Amino acid sequence: MPDPSRIIADLLAHYDSHRRRLPWRSDPGVRPDPYHVWLSEVMLQQTTVQTVIPYFRAFLQRWPGVADLAAAEQDAVMHAWQGLGYYSRARNLRKCAQVLVADHAGRFPQTEAGLLSLPGIGPYTAAAIAAIAFDQPTMPVDGNIERVSARLYAIEEAMPTVKPELKARAATLIARDRPGDMAQALMDLGATICTPRSPACGTCPISRDCMGREQGIAADLPRKAPKKAKPTRHAVFFWLSRGDGAVLFQRRPDKGLLGGMMLPPSTDWRDARPWTEAETRNHAPVASDWRALNGGVSHTFTHFHFEMTVWAGHVADHATFDGPDDVWCPPDRLDSLALPTVAKKVCRHALSGGTLV
Ligand code: ADE
Repeated sequence: MPDPSRIIADLLAHYDSHRRRLPWRSDPGVRPDPYHVWLSEVMLQQTTVQTVIPYFRAFLQRWPGVADLAAAEQDAVMHAWQGLGYYSRARNLRKCAQVLVADHAGRFPQTEAGLLSLPGIGPYTAAAIAAIAFDQPTMPVDGNIERVSARLYAIEEAMPTVKPELKARAATLIARDRPGDMAQALMDLGATICTPRSPACGTCPISRDCMGREQGIAADLPRKAPKKAKPTRHAVFFWLSRGDGAVLFQRRPDKGLLGGMMLPPSTDWRDARPWTEAETRNHAPVASDWRALNGGVSHTFTHFHFEMTVWAGHVADHATFDGPDDVWCPPDRLDSLALPTVAKKVCRHALSGGTLV
């Protein structure tokens, strides 16, 4: 049976000599800035360390502290988040900074419960900040730590049903005197040694305690329930230009997928089947000399594939599209908009005249 106190000692010793140098980490023995920990943990959800590093640096440079972020324009934050995906994280980030300034004198609460009460901070992030920034004895359980605990304890039940069990096992690995370092040591182990497909058990500092390795099943854990096939949704985007060449974008409602982001107008995103020409014409935002561009655009979201075509049209009079959620943007100024990746693909397709992207 794995021996938690030996695992903790072995892994912390390894962490002391092998810890990854990451911009949000402080020097050994020094508590990191909670603002840095929070920002990095929110960015790292669903995103790799390599992708996050430049975004993290850019955010800190622009908004060095909680008060700066609280005072930021929503559009500026969305724009700086562009490319990281899951944009509700960016909206909540600014909202959370505002609550911290308004209700907590600009400081983070130090307990997990206090952190959990803030916008955008769920159980994982609350535990991560409490452990890493405040040395509270808790364990944030992300995908890396789930994998390590499934392997250490040779737990064979499938994900996601097994998650609570993995969380309970991971909690046996809380290091009372260095909970933040232990959590980060497990994350590093999962990212560099105990990797998903081919774990490097030969160099693992805690392999002598690993039941998965002993049983020869480490690489297969955690087992996964068979994946449901992703549905495909279909939409037509309308690339509408006006007299001076500017193109119409519309802000999506704050709630839901891509909330607050700018996209060209489109039909509904429907599951059933692609849009026919007659249907598309009926759903165009305005009467125009619409022309379907050749080819199409594809994008895959977490829960569905998205197949798009693009129609181009022109209006001389744009009075209908001067509402607060409408933005006319010259094609050479598109980088000034908070465009999600899917919208960038649509733009590239439209600007290239409709060859396949
Ligand atoms: N993944 C999520 N949080 C992390 C952290 N603090 N260090 C390294 N990888 C992480």
